[in-house]
Amino acid sequence: MNLISHQTNSLNGEVICPGDKSISQRILIIGFLLNSRIEIKGFLDAEDPNSTLTALNGIGAAIHKENGLIYLNQRDDLFKSPSENLNLGNSGTGMRLILGLMSGLGIKATLVGDKSLTNRPMSRVINPLKAMGVEIESNDGMAPIKILSANICNNFEYEMPIASAQVKSCLMLAALASNNSISIRESKTTRDHTERMIEYFMGDIKYGDNENKGLIKLNAKNLTPRESYEIIGDFSSASFITVASLISPESEVTIKNVGLNSTRNGLLKVLALMGGDIEIKNVKNVCNEKSGDILVKSSNLHAIDIPEDIIPNIIDEIPILSIAAAFAEGTTTIKNAEELRVKESDRINAIAEGLKKLNINHEVFDDGLSITGKSSLIDINEEIDSFDDHRIAMSFLIAGIRSKNGLRVKNCKNIETSFPHFKDIMNSLGMKINE
Ligand code: S3P
Repeated sequence: MNLISHQTNSLNGEVICPGDKSISQRILIIGFLLNSRIEIKGFLDAEDPNSTLTALNGIGAAIHKENGLIYLNQRDDLFKSPSENLNLGNSGTGMRLILGLMSGLGIKATLVGDKSLTNRPMSRVINPLKAMGVEIESNDGMAPIKILSANICNNFEYEMPIASAQVKSCLMLAALASNNSISIRESKTTRDHTERMIEYFMGDIKYGDNENKGLIKLNAKNLTPRESYEIIGDFSSASFITVASLISPESEVTIKNVGLNSTRNGLLKVLALMGGDIEIKNVKNVCNEKSGDILVKSSNLHAIDIPEDIIPNIIDEIPILSIAAAFAEGTTTIKNAEELRVKESDRINAIAEGLKKLNINHEVFDDGLSITGKSSLIDINEEIDSFDDHRIAMSFLIAGIRSKNGLRVKNCKNIETSFPHFKDIMNSLGMKINE
């Protein structure tokens, strides 16, 4: 599916932020372990969380959807061995976290994914899992991944070699599911949704301690079930709406119920440094996560050097940040972001290829890019390639706001993995995106 996005003068109105993808996947997995009836509100009904849901049903979960809610139920047997391969589709989070869960429970199974997921590095989880006592086969560190046996050790200690919430979550889930303790040290703080959820269900976990920075200590203890869980909105999805509102000339938009977890919301700080007019209102705590409303108005942005220590906090927002930079005055530099090369696509390459077609001056580094903004409208006839990556597709469609004759993005189907109503929500605010 190709989409065209046309020049837009103003975005106005109020929208409710779609559910958080990371949290939607985690509540299904941790809910599976709780083995009790839980009603879940705010679930992101998109391909990635649905792949996780289907995989969990493949090991006996019986999760079902009813009137926009998700229900987990108590089962006689905690799990059943799957009769088929478990397919995690496009979802790196699904594959890495379920690998941790199944290793912890000793479920013998094979995990597979789509073409993109099959090319993503899995040694980052396979190696520490092996060190914990799991016997795993893979295709040279990539999917298909087969769990052969597991005998998880107690008190495993792990120093994270890369900044990855998926890796630390995989290991925590393996420990939690096998009733063992683990301690993990990360030098760069990554999203802490797993830690917060374990804490919400009264696990014995310590993290985010300023005196012992980066240390996560999870002690063996069963979690305590609760009857319901509410998922807040996805900050990453809200980022597309935020940047769209900033770069369209006469806009004022409110995004309601956005997740504002401090390990996720670094883009707000970055956009404020660039001159963005953004206000936060109605902040509250929902199931141990912070949420609030974002009020954003059109702004003349200027370039900055992105602080390197904020990169893990804005990793999923760099494609849309690049679009903000493409229309900011001056040259924005993004470095230390080599992880972008192993996301759903090589995002450094995908951003650069798109910017080239937009005639936006930029320089590519191994670990990032620098982008020199342009104030005139974009005038192109060539199609932009989404590289089958949801965040690349949505980012360039947002750039269409500043186009003279519209901007066509090829292959936008992947948007359904994280933000199925993207087109309708953006059009309800005043954008003109069509097929
Ligand atoms: C995620 C962690 C991040 C992020 C991904 C979702 C998660 O990946 O890019 O979209 O839900 O834990 P890494 O753990 O690979 O950094």
